[in-house]
Amino acid sequence: MERTSSEQPESRITRRNVLKVLLGYSFVATMAGVLTPIIGYLWPPERREVGRAGRVRAASLAELQVTQGLVTAANDQAIVLTYHERAGVKAFSAICTHLGCVVQWKDDAGYIQCPCHDARFNPQTGAVISGPAPSPLPPYPAEVDGDDVYVSL
Ligand code: FES
Repeated sequence: MERTSSEQPESRITRRNVLKVLLGYSFVATMAGVLTPIIGYLWPPERREVGRAGRVRAASLAELQVTQGLVTAANDQAIVLTYHERAGVKAFSAICTHLGCVVQWKDDAGYIQCPCHDARFNPQTGAVISGPAPSPLPPYPAEVDGDDVYVSL
């Protein structure tokens, strides 16, 4: 027996079906956008342990003597190195004690500055000169060996 057109199953793409699919897709996308940060907050990814690395080469002394200061990374930790003729080489954490931005060396001004809220730090002591930072930059022991600067992390 042959089917007539009125007996065939509904397989047409209707405007209503297209809207249902689009609404369903946008609901799923919205929920993913809302839930992903919540899940990331509740179950953060494991962080690689940045443990004590001991003595790590951080820079060349010749380079540091020219720039008087630089921000670099040693053992995955941001550090700021400074050089002064009398004070020698100093090393500090480059993470601002205000809200955690990475500080920068202002070679034209001769101090360490946080670009986020303009905290300024003394390049020989790490002490706060001005700005909202509540405490000095934590120091690291630094030493010169030949033409290399080493930091103990
Ligand atoms: Fe450095 Fe605010 S994060 S001054």
